[in-house]
Amino acid sequence: MAETYSLQDYVEDLRRIAGETDDEEQIIAQLGPLAQQVVRHTDWLQPKHYEADAEQGFGVHLLHEEPDHTLAVFVVSWLPGRGTPAHDHGTWAVVAGVEGVERNIRYARRDDGRREGYAELDVKQDFQAREGELVCMKTGGIHAVHNETDRVTLSLHTYGKHINHTNRSQFDPEARTQQAFVVRVA
Ligand SMILES: [Fe+2]
Repeated sequence: MAETYSLQDYVEDLRRIAGETDDEEQIIAQLGPLAQQVVRHTDWLQPKHYEADAEQGFGVHLLHEEPDHTLAVFVVSWLPGRGTPAHDHGTWAVVAGVEGVERNIRYARRDDGRREGYAELDVKQDFQAREGELVCMKTGGIHAVHNETDRVTLSLHTYGKHINHTNRSQFDPEARTQQAFVVRVA
């Protein structure tokens, strides 16, 4: 039987893949199946990873980043009934479900982004992401996440760069506003 694919194995593969190409589609295509593999055996998961920030509605736990903040891996815990506003990441994202079901709403941006603080978004997809399933986005992809279950859910998030170092945005689709999105990291 093959040895368990560890978090360290995943980080080494992440470095290798990102070192071989800058093509986000290539990175996502190669990394996605490996993210699904590392969430299959969660011996890297610790009780503290279930803790979430009651004010922001979720907990962001850093597992890995390079010294220059690239190649950041987080486990994110989502409180029941809570979630994020619509947001982008300022980099590519590969998210794999670890525990529970998370509703994802994907948006398409309609305006040209030239008016400061203004954004027009349309819903383009609304789906439930389950354990072991992937949600992947290239730079510029916009989504919102909601935990509509009655238990804390967990997902493993890998980004080209630590999300508080990418000048990313949150959006209010009804008010058509765009502003900075910074999260508290545990
Ligand atoms: Fe996100």
